[in-house]
Amino acid sequence: MIIGSISEDRNIEKRVAVTPDTIKKYKTLGLDIKLIKNYGSHLGISDKEYEDEGASILKNDDEVIASSDAIIQLNIPSDENLNKFKKDQILIGVLNPYSNETKLKEIIAKNIKCFSLELLPRITRAQSMDILSSQANLAGYKAVIESFAFFQKAIPMMMTAAGTISAAKVLVVGAGVAGLQAIATAKRMGAIVYATDVRLASKEQVESLGGKFLIVEDAENLETEGGYAKEASDDFKKKQEELLKETLKKIDIVICTALIPGKKAPVIIKKDMINIMQNGSVIYDLAASQGGNSELTKVDEIIDNNGIKIMGEANILNKLPISASNLYSKNMFNFVSNLFNKESKNFEINLEDEIIKKTMVK
Ligand code: NAI
Repeated sequence: MIIGSISEDRNIEKRVAVTPDTIKKYKTLGLDIKLIKNYGSHLGISDKEYEDEGASILKNDDEVIASSDAIIQLNIPSDENLNKFKKDQILIGVLNPYSNETKLKEIIAKNIKCFSLELLPRITRAQSMDILSSQANLAGYKAVIESFAFFQKAIPMMMTAAGTISAAKVLVVGAGVAGLQAIATAKRMGAIVYATDVRLASKEQVESLGGKFLIVEDAENLETEGGYAKEASDDFKKKQEELLKETLKKIDIVICTALIPGKKAPVIIKKDMINIMQNGSVIYDLAASQGGNSELTKVDEIIDNNGIKIMGEANILNKLPISASNLYSKNMFNFVSNLFNKESKNFEINLEDEIIKKTMVK
């Protein structure tokens, strides 16, 4: 069986689905890897490095698609490339089934099996394949680094002969995977960190990282059985707004990470709340591409609202594509390995397996 990976639009995606160190693992399973030429050259990974590990380098996407049983990607391929897929081929990636519904329906109708990794269930057995966690963890870290670089003051407290610099105060909105890494990173750099979430289970996690949890008074726990957030009621939103308004007066940097699966991101930091922040404060909105947690966020722009900077990117992972690719390619390998029957040496779509069933796009 052959696994292929073709080009991505490098203007929007710098990560790759196969790194040289995963090729041996595929080979051990009995899978061959075919890639297009210059597959990782934008990351400084030469074709020779891939070949030395046992991959074959082909001239173009057409050749890779024509010779592969499964194609592994980051994003859904271009329409032109999708048209070249054949019956019984497998496509695995972050296919974004909600916004690519029509395209996916068309190729599924041609009997091409599509698996979207953002649909993975958050169960223990799927942890090694969990691209949401591996990528969100890096995004949380990088959002702190980016916002600190923009902040015009020092982060840790410093006592010097010339006087004392007080520690910067950071608020993390949403304490899931990205938020917890943001808290840990900001703490390591010496900031005082506050965090809030609608899931009460996150309080203990925030506190174990040294953060101060801001709890909305008398709030119910807005957690689904799957561990995700539910949409908050108007009453909750009002109380959360009051709480954050008070806090934001003393906050230097806000990292926004709040998401509700399948919905637009909740708008939590309203314009009037931003207006009461101190001049020079920074808001980094990791929810930007889902609409943003701050009312003033614009994707890939830096907004200056009376000296308060608000920023958010479509894909922050493009700023650490090597680390992100290393983790993504391992997640992908673990997913492929679960789909591949080691005895029959064939891909087996076993719909009794929760991981396979939930990720398969229908
Ligand atoms: P996410 O990316 O969907 O959301 C980020 C955070 O925003 C969540 O913590 C959510 O509760 C919070 N949020 C949503 N609306 C909010 C609001 N209005 N105000 C404040 N916060 C708000 O979530 P993520 O990071 O993917 O984690 C989801 C869950 O999955 C968590 O419970 C996490 O612990 C769990 N998990 C489980 C894994 C496992 O293998 N068992 C692996 C990774 C995560």
